[in-house]
Amino acid sequence: MKDFTGKFAVITGGGTGMGRELARQLVAEGCNVAMCDVSAANMAVTKSLCEAEGAQGVRVTTFVADVSDEAAMNAFRDAVARDQDTDHIHLLFNNAGIGGGGGFVSGDREGWERTFNICWGGVYNGCRAFLPMLMAAEAGHIVNTSSVNGFWASIGPNTPHTAYAAAKFAVKGFTEALITDLRLNAPHIKCSVVMPGHIGTQIISNSRKVLTGDDSDTLSDAAVAQARARMAGMMGAAAEGLSDDQIHAFMAEAARRFHEDAPMTAAAAATVILDGVKTERWRILVGDDAHRLDALVRETPEAAYTPEFFASFAAEVGWIVGG
Ligand SMILES: NC(=O)c1ccc[n+]([C@@H]2O[C@H](COP(=O)([O-])OP(=O)(O)OC[C@H]3O[C@@H](n4cnc5c(N)ncnc54)[C@H](O)[C@@H]3O)[C@@H](O)[C@H]2O)c1
Repeated sequence: MKDFTGKFAVITGGGTGMGRELARQLVAEGCNVAMCDVSAANMAVTKSLCEAEGAQGVRVTTFVADVSDEAAMNAFRDAVARDQDTDHIHLLFNNAGIGGGGGFVSGDREGWERTFNICWGGVYNGCRAFLPMLMAAEAGHIVNTSSVNGFWASIGPNTPHTAYAAAKFAVKGFTEALITDLRLNAPHIKCSVVMPGHIGTQIISNSRKVLTGDDSDTLSDAAVAQARARMAGMMGAAAEGLSDDQIHAFMAEAARRFHEDAPMTAAAAATVILDGVKTERWRILVGDDAHRLDALVRETPEAAYTPEFFASFAAEVGWIVGG
């Protein structure tokens, strides 16, 4: 699909980050956008940015839905048909996701399943809900956001990362298998798997809000305790001696650095994703770090989970280690 003008795009997780930037760039190209998110307030900001910059006559609509909830996603689909006044869509961006659920052995099961059900279940529910509307278009494209953690199940040797990696591998495997299924059964629909490296977004604070159900910018007592336990995994007993204020400051600084010191912005990432759709690439690596990691894991798969592999890769691409 080379031209987005006059098309209909659905974006999950349009409230911030890459979802917001996809919405802005699509609207700037004359594409109608329907987004969902758990945050109505963040979607309102995205909508006003789109409307300030977008072409005349383009519709931008919002709907509060949790992508892990099948009934909510079906309600979102019905709202898209009603609010956009269409029986078909051309583009589906299953973008919503959170980080979390790191530990399987000793971590909290609820957080594990919440992370998995959003990162994998959101893609599955999005495809199930919107496939009929894609089938009804003359051309369609499904864009599923995985991660470098869809081919490399780690964020470093000192931090368990099981739920997110399992979900992102599932997104990648499902999307790759869809290539053949679509070619056989719906050849007018293409699909792509997106694998970003480190992109500067607010995913750290957004994930905490989704996992705790607490929308405030201040960490709850439970979140401080969880952060202290995670830090103990990284820095040992020294974490026990930190005050709550020090934990707050450490977490805020880690989130700030993740957002502001990233090698690529969310806007630049959205451009790479949309270029990948236009050139019909099924695998869209986003960022130099993602390309390098892809090459390294292929070159030395047995070494991929050793501390030396991570240290050398992180130093080469400039990843921030340990917050
Ligand atoms: N930022 C990175 O470095 C990075 C790297 C690789 C992959 N990704 C993936 O990219 C995607 C976008 O992330 P981002 O970095 O832009 O983060 P972000 O937090 O800025 O955006 C994600 C959006 O999804 C929404 N969301 C979260 N849970 C939801 C749910 N259950 N239902 C509906 N909406 C929900 C959030 O409110 C937020 O608006 C995610 O799938 C993420 O896993 C991000």
